[in-house]
Amino acid sequence: MKTILTYGTYDLLHTGHIELLRRAKELGDILIVGLSTDEFNAEKHKQAVLNYSDRKKILEAIRYVDKVIPEEFWEQKISDVKKYNADVFVMGHDWDGKFDFLKKYCKVVYLPRTPYISTTQIKTKIKFKK
Ligand code: CTP
Repeated sequence: MKTILTYGTYDLLHTGHIELLRRAKELGDILIVGLSTDEFNAEKHKQAVLNYSDRKKILEAIRYVDKVIPEEFWEQKISDVKKYNADVFVMGHDWDGKFDFLKKYCKVVYLPRTPYISTTQIKTKIKFKK
């Protein structure tokens, strides 16, 4: 059994998220998503429209996702890789190189982002819609 680990905020779920999760799951058997908590988002000066519990509920309903765990701080990644015996750590290529320090513990894969869609773009569109 191959375990895949990925992280994100997954606010206002969109096709870019789904594509990332679909391709991540294809790399193994079990997909675990570290979902950033509202407190961690606040630390990053990021405010999600949906709270942690709603974002978690939505992610858990996706067929590619097997487990959702809280992402509470940057440094937890090494211990999560060990705790869940992750074989592959996956992120979108906007994070290229940022998690190479995990290569000591597992395979690290950066997947190409789906173009022309992001939570930020959806928020902007909604703001300007009459
Ligand atoms: N992602 C992707 N393609 C997109 C948007 C996101 O592959 N078009 C990936 C990111 O690279 C990340 C995961 O989905 O691995 C979760 O990303 P997240 O930051 O939650 O979504 P964004 O839409 O990028 O949010 P924001 O605009 O707030 O940065």
